[in-house]
Amino acid sequence: MTSELDGIFDTFNQNGIFKNKFIFQTNYQPNEILHREEQIKQIALILAPVLRGERTSNLFLYGKTGTGKTLSIQYVRDELLKRLKKDVPFKLKIEYLNCKLKKVSDTEYRILAELIKKMGGEVPITGLPTEAVYNKFIDIIDSEKQLIVLILDEIDQATKKISSDFLYNLTRLNSELSKTQICIVGISNDLTFLDELDPRVRSSLSEEEIVFPPYNAMQLQDILKKRSLEGFKEEVVQEGVIAKTAAFAAREHGDARRALDLLRIAGELAERDNSDKILLKHIDEANNKIEKDKILDVIKTEPKQFQFVLYSIIKLSERKKQEPIFTGDIYNLYQDICIQNKSEVLTQRRVSDIIQEFDMLGIINVKVISKGRGGRMREIKLAIGKGVIDKAKEIIRDSLNY
Ligand SMILES: Nc1ncnc2c1ncn2[C@@H]1O[C@H](COP(=O)(O)OP(=O)(O)OP(=O)(O)O)[C@@H](O)[C@H]1O
Ligand SMILES: [Mg+2]
Repeated sequence: MTSELDGIFDTFNQNGIFKNKFIFQTNYQPNEILHREEQIKQIALILAPVLRGERTSNLFLYGKTGTGKTLSIQYVRDELLKRLKKDVPFKLKIEYLNCKLKKVSDTEYRILAELIKKMGGEVPITGLPTEAVYNKFIDIIDSEKQLIVLILDEIDQATKKISSDFLYNLTRLNSELSKTQICIVGISNDLTFLDELDPRVRSSLSEEEIVFPPYNAMQLQDILKKRSLEGFKEEVVQEGVIAKTAAFAAREHGDARRALDLLRIAGELAERDNSDKILLKHIDEANNKIEKDKILDVIKTEPKQFQFVLYSIIKLSERKKQEPIFTGDIYNLYQDICIQNKSEVLTQRRVSDIIQEFDMLGIINVKVISKGRGGRMREIKLAIGKGVIDKAKEIIRDSLNY
């Protein structure tokens, strides 16, 4: 609620582009979900029996990021709860949990603790053996006869950090429960997630599967138009802006979140420009800004050895000004840096792989030039602007104490 009010007050305080900025925030629930009728209907058909107190199949939703999975499942959950009659002779709980918990080492423990909390119980934040927390979880859900739908969003995050035993145990819960019945809705944007699971867990988790395909440019336009009407003042969007935003996001991978972010940032840039309209150039600028932030994010999360290699490239580029730099030079400087930092030195082959990865991420450009007699050299140039380079240096120095 506070953020909603912030949105309203912020925007009434100025004569800018936005009517209500909250409309563009991630936690805003649009009142209509466009182009997901089919998926929503399928989810509803599968889950509808819970209204009669019957357990349903486990359900698995997958699709790339920003394709409306979270939005759709939350919508169906709300609609189900609205329709649950007051006088039914059974108890139904539909609990949603996002498994992407920040900065926790013991994810399984935390997930169980969160679930226990949702069921009205309590466990200390740390301290108990996971086994004990698991038993407590069983006790609390089995304390009375009830039907539980457990929605585990970004479920791939849970197994990346812990063993897949956790999921195995979850899928076998029903055999351990005597009064309660449970069905699991798993959600993931990692399309390979299911393939990598133990076949028993996989078949149990995905008794039913629903795919969320990427949005195409036309669909993104519809979503953007609707949101613009609610969030922007009248006639502040230059002709062609929506189409361009949608085209950018469709090229990425049909990500509605990306599309909405682009439009919001373009609006902010237009305001900063004192422009009374969002212009096409603001979309370009917003796109650059998002790209920049993405690259910095990658750099932040890269392992130490990657950061050493990048730091070497940056240092060499600064020394050599416009001249090209070569893999050999990078490797030499990289070795010095490793030694100074008392860190392991990777082989030249490995460093070459890392350089290639930077190329793929768009951080550098690599040009292969032939040197006669089959010899080849790789000429390397930084592909990021000065602002990003300075930020990157700061990030690397911070994380390496350099
Ligand atoms: N069909 C739609 N209509 C309106 N808004 C949408 C639609 N689909 C997605 N959005 C908006 O796009 C953003 C991303 O949607 P959502 O969070 O549901 O994606 P997701 O598939 O769960 O992505 P991730 O895999 O990254 O969690 C949200 O702000 C949501 O409101
Ligand atoms: Mg989601």
